[in-house]
Amino acid sequence: MRPRDVVVVDGVRTAFGRAGEKGCFWLTRADDMAVRVIRELMRRNPEVSPEMVEENVWGATTQIGDQGMTLGRTSALLAGLPESCSGFSVDRMCAGGLTAVTTAASEIAMGACDVAIAGGVEHMGRHPMGSQADPNPRFMTEKLVSEDALVMGKTAENLHDLFPEITKEMADEYAVHAQAKTAKAYAEGKIQKMIVPMTVYTKEGWIVADRDQQPRPETTMEGLATLKTPFRVQGKVTPGNSSGLNDGASAVLLMSAEKAAELGVKGGLKLTGYAYAGVRPEIMGYGPIPATKKALKNTGLSMEDIGLIELNEAFAVQAIIFMKEFGLKFPDDERLNPLGGAIAFGHPLAASGPRLVIHLLNQFAERPELRYGMTTMCVGLGQGATAIWERA
Ligand SMILES: CC(C)(COP(=O)(O)OP(=O)(O)OC[C@H]1O[C@@H](n2cnc3c(N)ncnc32)[C@H](O)[C@@H]1OP(=O)(O)O)[C@@H](O)C(=O)NCCC(=O)NCCS
Repeated sequence: MRPRDVVVVDGVRTAFGRAGEKGCFWLTRADDMAVRVIRELMRRNPEVSPEMVEENVWGATTQIGDQGMTLGRTSALLAGLPESCSGFSVDRMCAGGLTAVTTAASEIAMGACDVAIAGGVEHMGRHPMGSQADPNPRFMTEKLVSEDALVMGKTAENLHDLFPEITKEMADEYAVHAQAKTAKAYAEGKIQKMIVPMTVYTKEGWIVADRDQQPRPETTMEGLATLKTPFRVQGKVTPGNSSGLNDGASAVLLMSAEKAAELGVKGGLKLTGYAYAGVRPEIMGYGPIPATKKALKNTGLSMEDIGLIELNEAFAVQAIIFMKEFGLKFPDDERLNPLGGAIAFGHPLAASGPRLVIHLLNQFAERPELRYGMTTMCVGLGQGATAIWERA
């Protein structure tokens, strides 16, 4: 059979909290966050009955405890989707959620199902990066990777080494713009509508988590210049030009274009193509470049065709090399992350991929001139992930 067109019709996320005791989700389970997002998708899309959802795919990096037990299946049951809805989990670290989206879309394209939910969740407070991981000693004894490869901030310092023309000042300048764009988007009410409020219990009692905790609208070059460089003495990567440690969940509702037409649901984005690529783990932030080249080749498009790029800025340096490679204007190109990115919103690993798709979807709804868009991100241990979308 010929692959079918697949569309994303809606997407929503929780607020992104700060990981740790000061975070709004510190006392909240990751699976409950996934459930909140699934239920909201169903509430917002009454044309889609729960019985129509046939597959529920979730990404999470640490698949134990409240992120374990095949989250795709457990969150479907907990959310009240019918028993007939199957579900599973995927792990591609930071791109786990984006992989959930492309995997669910591929199922739909192949006719395995008509309607699916795909999301990502990461509670980095309950599951700090690398916790309970047990890397095979061969990685070190056989020098398969350097120790740097396991600490993402160090891989960002390595990128600065590889591209010495990208200075710390440039990384900071990028971060100032990223924060300013997010502050503007919040002031214009563009972010709030993508967030489902969640009532959560905290040490201060019950609160409604409805706003990201990480954005720092007051960010200045002077303020950033004073920050420590935790990954290297006199390094270039700081808490200000990195994404943070966060808790969050996000998901999208996908269906075949035929099903969307049958239900009279407006499909916002059609998945045109996607690609994943591997790079040296020590410079994992380079990953989006080969992944994007591959995705453009797969789809027969060029960067000039892409009107909007949602890039997960894990670190400013990684975003800047992407901009350099594809001829985007530094420090701010109108095609790249117009609402800001992970430096401001935060980066709860597997939740970030669907967050990028949700940003794209919302901006396509507001800007009829857009035809093609891209979501792209780097991945720990040296991968890149890029999906290309077209107005449906
Ligand atoms: C960089 C990192 C270690 C910082 O963690 P942290 O120390 O808990 O970060 P904080 O938010 O507490 O910030 C540290 C300090 O910088 C300050 N700061 C952070 N951003 C700032 C900004 N934009 N402007 C001014 N000050 C800022 C904070 O106020 C804080 O100051 P304080 O120590 O006086 O309170 C952490 O965010 C990190 O590891 N990020 C990368 C995550 C990652 O690797 N993800 C995977 C990517 S593939």
